[in-house]
Amino acid sequence: MADNSKKLWGGRYTEATDAFVEAFTASVEFDRILATYDIAGSLAHATMLEKSAIISSEELEQIKSGLAEISSEIDSGNFTWSIALEDVHMNIERALTERIGEAGKKLHTGRSRNDQIATDIRLYLRDQIDSISATIRKLQTGILDLAADHTETIMPGLTHLQVAQPVVFGHHLMAWFEMIDRDCQRLADCRKRVNILPLGAAALAGTSFPINRQLTAELLGFDGIADNSLDAVSDRDFAIEFAAAASLLMMHLSRWSEELVLWSSPQFDYIDLPDRFCTGSSIMPQKKNPDVPELVRGKTGRVFGSLTALLTVMKGQPLAYNKDNQEDKEPLFDTVDTLLSCLTAFADMIPAIVPKKDNMRNAALRGYATATDLADYLVMKGLPFRDAHEVVGKLVADGIVAGKDLSELTLEAMQSQSKLIESDIFTVLTLEGSVNARNHPGGTAPGQVRLAIQKARKSING
Ligand code: ARG
Repeated sequence: MADNSKKLWGGRYTEATDAFVEAFTASVEFDRILATYDIAGSLAHATMLEKSAIISSEELEQIKSGLAEISSEIDSGNFTWSIALEDVHMNIERALTERIGEAGKKLHTGRSRNDQIATDIRLYLRDQIDSISATIRKLQTGILDLAADHTETIMPGLTHLQVAQPVVFGHHLMAWFEMIDRDCQRLADCRKRVNILPLGAAALAGTSFPINRQLTAELLGFDGIADNSLDAVSDRDFAIEFAAAASLLMMHLSRWSEELVLWSSPQFDYIDLPDRFCTGSSIMPQKKNPDVPELVRGKTGRVFGSLTALLTVMKGQPLAYNKDNQEDKEPLFDTVDTLLSCLTAFADMIPAIVPKKDNMRNAALRGYATATDLADYLVMKGLPFRDAHEVVGKLVADGIVAGKDLSELTLEAMQSQSKLIESDIFTVLTLEGSVNARNHPGGTAPGQVRLAIQKARKSING
């Protein structure tokens, strides 16, 4: 049996908590990372209590200096955390009372751990969203710098993983920029709903003390107060929303990783990933494995798993707070840590990619990437698109037999399929001719890609 004399809620208990139950129900092993936010929340709450004449200014001063001492003890690693005190809140409150006596016991006036924990995770998540967004911006800047260097670097654009039409590498990179940008917007939107103050809800119904929630919200930088006390302590939809945005972001990073793994393989050989992002094999001396993208692809699974865990934690809960909610923390923390490490790896790795321009170009020259351009040319000369498609299909078949690209066929050979083809066809069939022709916003013409990069730079710096 555990000793119940230390418990902050021990008053009505006659029997000590079972030792296993004590360990089973405790959260301090993982929620102690919220200590900074817990202390910030307590300071704001105490300041509000004093301004509302619920505690005295001497008591507030004692609380402030006690919390400051505890904070530096935690920072220096000298604070003793106790499982018997269950969670971060009661560990800190007990330490405060041990230091300052009566005033420490008054801190919890008009407050409950239910609104306290909801406040802590919102403060934590707001900070993390800001760090994640800053890392996304760093990655986006890296994408833009690399894209700007490659507005004329031609590579094959693929559909079904088969050569489709030529694109410039900068355009391809800007596709990733757009996806990551939407992820950043989703996080910014989620932050609005995270940044709402639960404190004042107390256990579930509010409090009988004359509190000033607006003041607490202002002190903590919240945009507003939760409008319903039951909702404030019970729902974790803001964390689920974050995990959903995180899952989409990881899905994008995972797709991108897959591409980097393929591109750095000897079969594609489009890019070189610098050695510092790869590791070797313990048995095969020739190996250089793209571990960083592989691991990002692999870590995507745990973020999807956390989203499922959070949804499932919430789905069976009646109003208001239930202990189930303690299970929100580990998936949430793991999602944040995973996201930050994967983004940091990408922000570092993407600008360091070395494209192998000749290989990209040669790959675009194989696979009849300009076949659509030939069909479009015939359409411009008056042939209906379906007929043009047929003519070009036949020429591609001729090319396959002769082992030649369309641009390598003679004019006579091409005219045998359509008299509309004239000598100006050869500029149309070049890779440059093909990309230059797609000259509209959103297209792959180098000039358009340069404009897209300029616009993107403005949007992330503005
Ligand atoms: N450790 C709890 C949690 O993470 C804090 C709130 C506990 N409240 C309670 N009445 N048991 O949700």
